[in-house]
Formats: sequence, C-alpha cells, structure tokens
Amino acid sequence: MRLLPFRFDREEGVFWLLDQRRLPQEEVWVPVRTAKGMAEAIRTMVVRGAPAIGVSAAFGMVLAHLSGEDPEEADRLLRASRPTAVNLFHALDRLRPHWGSLEGTLEEAYALWREVEETEAAISRHGAEVLRGQVLTHCNTGPLATGGYGTALGAILEAHRRGLVRHVWVDETRPYLQGARLTAFELMKAGVPATLIADNMAGFLMARGQVDAVIVGVDRMALNGDFANKIGTYALAVLAHHHGIPFYAALPLSSVDPKLESGEGIPIEERPPEEVTHLRGLPIAPEGFPAYHPAFDVTPHRYLTGIVTEKGVLYPPFGEALRRALGLS
Ligand code: MRU
Repeated sequence: MRLLPFRFDREEGVFWLLDQRRLPQEEVWVPVRTAKGMAEAIRTMVVRGAPAIGVSAAFGMVLAHLSGEDPEEADRLLRASRPTAVNLFHALDRLRPHWGSLEGTLEEAYALWREVEETEAAISRHGAEVLRGQVLTHCNTGPLATGGYGTALGAILEAHRRGLVRHVWVDETRPYLQGARLTAFELMKAGVPATLIADNMAGFLMARGQVDAVIVGVDRMALNGDFANKIGTYALAVLAHHHGIPFYAALPLSSVDPKLESGEGIPIEERPPEEVTHLRGLPIAPEGFPAYHPAFDVTPHRYLTGIVTEKGVLYPPFGEALRRALGLS
C-alpha cells in the first residue's frame, strides 16, 4: 500500500500533511488551514519532493479561499517557500485563472493531483523497461515525494514487480537523509530487497561492478536536458559516466522549465547550515564551525543516458527530444 504525503478534508477545510521530518520513526499528521501555514510547511520540509510540493501549493490556494486570505499574498508566500523545484511555480500558474471561484480552485487542485498520478503510472512503466539487476538511487522519489506513484522510485518499484530489478542501493542522501529515512522506508514497505549506503560508497560499488544502472528524480530540467536534483546527484552522474554505467533521470514533463535553455539559470536553494552541523538536533561538528548547505546541484545533460518521461524514454540529442515531447517543435 502506498503511503501518501497528504489528504484533504473538504468538510473541515483542512489539508493534512504527513510530517516527513518525523518519518520513519513516527507517523504524525499535521493539519494545515491556511496558505500561509502551507508555505511554512513547505519551507520547513513537513512536505517535500517536487511533485508533492506542487500539489500542496495548489491546495494552499484552496485553503486561501476557505480562510479568506488575499490570493495575491497567498500566491506570493507560496512562491517564496522553496526556489528550485519548478512544479511549485507550475502549480501556482495553473491555479491563478481560477482564483475567483472556490469550486474552480478546488477542481484545478484535484486535476493537478490526478495528473501527478497518471503521469507517474506512465513514468513507472517506461522506466521499468530500462532498469535491470542492481540499481542505485539518490534522495526520495517515491509516493511520499509526489502524492502519486513516484518517479525514479516508481520505475524501480515497477521493474521489481516485473522481476527485472533484484536489488536497490539506497544513498542515505546527506544532509537531510531522505534516502535513509524515506526511500528505505518505502522500499521496505514494498518488500523490495535493498541496502542503505553512505553517499561516499557509490564509487566503490561501481568499481566492483555491483551497480547496473542509476536512476534519480528531477526538481527542474532545462530545455537541453541539464537538471537540478538533490545535492550529490552530480557526483553520482560523473561516477556513473566514468564507470560506463547507464544513468537515467525520471520526471514528468511538467518538471521541464521551458524558459531555461541550460542548467545555468536554475536557482539553487541554500538551506540552514545547521542541517549540516547537526543530525536531528544532535551536534556533529565543533560548536560554531561554519558549514554550507546547497540543497541541490545541477547535472549536465552529457552525463545522462536517457530521460524517462510519461511520453517514453528520451535519448540524445536531448534538446530536440525534449522540444518534441513538449510540443515546442
Ligand atoms: O529537498 P527535497 O527532499 O524536496 O528534494 C527532493 C528531490 O531532490 C527529489 O529527487 C525530486 O524532488 C524529485 S521527486 C520525484
């Protein structure tokens, strides 16, 4: 059974978020009643993962309606919550024409959520076709990150169901540990054989021939195929390239930013340094020691073997393939 990151109680006017900061130890549901509260929940990572942030922001606009917040201000607060994943901005752009009616806003938010499910079912099917043997993944891209079936993890789960993938290496994903806390949890629930590794172990496994493919999610992709994803993705891509291991990015086409020709213009979120110096509140560095926390990095398209989308797997030249898939040429 999928554990979804949210549910909406229409009667009470409450959007419930599963607090992902507390998983896997505790399953705590947080009620959100305003767009302002939603922006704060996104900023503080109660809900995270690009598609899940998009759906949450859409329902944030529903909450604005219900709680009588000024839609302009609600939209501004939600846009300012996290900068990198383009899904947030796509969702808010889609909601804008519906601001005038509660029913319209609600319908559009549900439509967005349904699309996440439909596109991810297709991404999972297409992704499963290119995965074999032992697969390595980074961060968390399962239902918890999306509200649907997952992107990269959706493909892994489907490939396992078909008997194609037999084992998954799960990067712990420092510093926020989305791999250790969330991907491990989702794989365990799904009964997929998997092993947790620290991020710096991937090269060792690749050199020993224990990784057949790498697949990751995407927070924002440029039109040439360069893409931002969780910090550490770039290093993995370079390693996979060096070892001749296929490297895939899985995403809904709505995660492509048609305004960007290359990855250079992708805004990279910088999060509090305490997320590096502390592990769930426990200090792991000398007090006051400087730390730096870029939350995402950009992987150049030349390291990609293929891009898994709801319309199939795209191959180089990615610029042409993406434009065609987006109906831009
Ligand atoms: O900081 P997070 O946890 O929101 O980052 C999530 C990721 O980087 C995922 O890989 C990405 O959102 C794709 S999710 C399908």
